[in-house]
Amino acid sequence: MSDIRFDNRVAIVTGAGGGLGKSHALLLASRGAKVVVNDLGGSVDGSGGGSRAADAVVAEIKAAGGEAVANYDGVDTDEGAKKIVGTAKDAFGKLDIVINNAGILRDVSFMKMTDEDWEKVLRVHLYGSMYVTKAAWPLLRENGFGRVVFTTSAAGLYGNFGQTNYSSAKLGIVGLAKTLAQEGAKYDIRSNVIAPIAKSRMTETVMPPDMLAKLGPEFVSPLVAYLCSSDCQDNAQIYAVGGGYVSRVAIVEGQGVAYKGPMSVDDIAKRWGEINDLSAAKPLGNAMEAASQAMRVAMSS
Ligand code: NAI
Repeated sequence: MSDIRFDNRVAIVTGAGGGLGKSHALLLASRGAKVVVNDLGGSVDGSGGGSRAADAVVAEIKAAGGEAVANYDGVDTDEGAKKIVGTAKDAFGKLDIVINNAGILRDVSFMKMTDEDWEKVLRVHLYGSMYVTKAAWPLLRENGFGRVVFTTSAAGLYGNFGQTNYSSAKLGIVGLAKTLAQEGAKYDIRSNVIAPIAKSRMTETVMPPDMLAKLGPEFVSPLVAYLCSSDCQDNAQIYAVGGGYVSRVAIVEGQGVAYKGPMSVDDIAKRWGEINDLSAAKPLGNAMEAASQAMRVAMSS
C-alpha cells in the first residue's frame, strides 16, 4: 500500500489556530494538502479574537515546506463562512476537504444557563458546521469529490453534567452529518464524524496533567486525515478517538417486540426487559430503514 497523500487537495480546517485543528492542519499539509488555516483567535468561551493563532500555524506549515493561508473569520455567521470558503477559492482555486473543528465552551448547570450561553455555543458548533459546509457544498459538488469531517463529543453522544448547550450542539452535528452523507453520496462527498478526546486548552482544566500528557492531538489527527482521503469510502460514520484508541460508534436499535395490534400499558410493562434488550441490536442505514421496522410489524399484524 502506498502512503496516503493529499497532493492537489485543498482543505479548510476551522479553529486551526491551536489544539486539535492545528494538529489536523499540520498533518494534512505535511502530506501535500494546501490548507486554509481558519481561526478567529478567541478565548475558550468565544470572547476576544485576533490573527496571531492562525498566522503562527501558517508560518509553521510554510517553514516545513508546505502551503497554507490564514483566515480569521468566525464560522458562526453565513458571511464569515462564505469568506472562509472564498479564501480557499481565491488562494488555491478549489476545495476538496472541510474539517469542521472550531469550538467554544460555556459550561454551566441547566438552571443557571442563560439564553446567551445556549445561543453562542449552538452558533459556533452547530450553525458554524452548517454555514461552512453550506458555503463549501457547491464547490465540492462541482469537484465531484469531497471529504467533510465533523467534530462531535462524548458529551453530545452520551450527555455530560453542565453541558446542555454543548451536548445539544454536538448531537445536532451528528444529525447534520448523517443527512449530508446521504445528500452528498452521489457526488462522492463523504461526511463522517469524530468524537475526540485530547489535550487542549479546553481540557487542561478538567483532566490531570499526567493523563493529558498521553492524550496529545497527534493521536486524533491520523484518523481525521484518513477520513479526508480518497481511500476512505465510509460515509455517515462516527468514530471515537484519542490516546491511541480508535473505534466506530453507532446508534443502534434492538430487535424489539412485535405486538399483534394495539398493546395495553400492561403489555408494555410485561415485556419491558425485551424492549430494552440490546443483545441483538444493529445500526440502521437511514431513516427509512428505521421506519420500516415499525411498518413491517404493522403490516403483519
Ligand atoms: P481549542 O479551544 O484548542 O480549539 C478550538 C479553536 O476554535 C480555537 O483555536 C478557537 O479560537 C477556535 N474558534 C472558536 N470559535 C471560533 C469561530 N467562531 N470561528 C473560528 N474559529 C473559532 O479546543 P480543542 O480541544 O482543540 O477543540 C477542537 C474541537 O474538538 C472542538 O469542536 C471541541 O468541541 C471538540 N472536542 C474536543 C475535545 C477534547 O478532548 N479536546 C473533546 C470533544 C470534542
